[in-house]
Amino acid sequence: MEIHRFERLWLGLSILLVVALIGTVAYGAVAEGVKMVDDSGGTVQPGELSDHPEFSDPGVRQVGENEYEVWVVPRQFFFDPGTSQPIRVPAGSTVTFHVTSGDVVHGFEVANTNINTMVIPGQIATVTAEFDDPAEYGLVCHEYCGSGHHSMEGKLEVVPQSQFNATEAGA
Ligand code: CUA
Repeated sequence: MEIHRFERLWLGLSILLVVALIGTVAYGAVAEGVKMVDDSGGTVQPGELSDHPEFSDPGVRQVGENEYEVWVVPRQFFFDPGTSQPIRVPAGSTVTFHVTSGDVVHGFEVANTNINTMVIPGQIATVTAEFDDPAEYGLVCHEYCGSGHHSMEGKLEVVPQSQFNATEAGA
């Protein structure tokens, strides 16, 4: 059977396209660490966050010299903390976010970083990132969570170390 030259060309390009698509997914999963939310961060009873040792009082904790943990509870339609007051961490730190929902499925994205996770009631999403320089980042909910979804946002402030110490001293 003879295959026309152009038919062969398009066949080749189609196969190339499929291989490239699979390649990008594989690259994301292996090289960039894109993955599904799973139980590796732990689970929690969504109705009992007020009894949880950390989620009952969400916020920033220092756990090492330049290491911080941030416990965040997104709810309809705000981040606690993040919306009514910004999440504040010092520059030059490694920050691990532990995020779980207080009601329905939300998203937790720190804009212009690679921090981006679904937030599922009952599951704790854990994401670690390094913040070298002072900056301000927006927090975005990117999963439709109800009538106020479009307004659900917050702020992360990475402040100079000296400024962080000054603000935390009074806290
Ligand atoms: Cu929370 Cu959309």
